[in-house]
Amino acid sequence: MSAVDRERAAESAHFSFDGESVPFVAGQSVGAALMAHGITSWRTTRVQQRPRGLFCGIGVCFDCLLTVDDRRSQRACLVPAVAGARVLSADPDAPLVAADAAERPCVPAGEAPHGDDAVSSPTSREVS
Ligand code: FES
Repeated sequence: MSAVDRERAAESAHFSFDGESVPFVAGQSVGAALMAHGITSWRTTRVQQRPRGLFCGIGVCFDCLLTVDDRRSQRACLVPAVAGARVLSADPDAPLVAADAAERPCVPAGEAPHGDDAVSSPTSREVS
């Protein structure tokens, strides 16, 4: 494949985000593609509904969780963008699906991911 063909293929690569078509280039993460497309947040914190998107960008903070092809709690900064993927903003109040427990992020029971205001809130234990 020539450089021009690769460029054209990259230009035509899209995934959907909450029904909106988002372009990406090969090698880009879902989070990077969303940011490049002007989408800077895709979930909110549980208590104060503060917007969250990329923070660390390296898979540490779990601020960037979203759903990719029906797999919840995926880190947008680590998931490679794939043509045709169906990406949904996270709903922190929706119940987790226990089918693939090994693929869930490693967050202790009763704890919210780092960056979620529920962690530092005095009422966080009551909310979780
Ligand atoms: S931005 Fe921190 S884990 Fe993705």
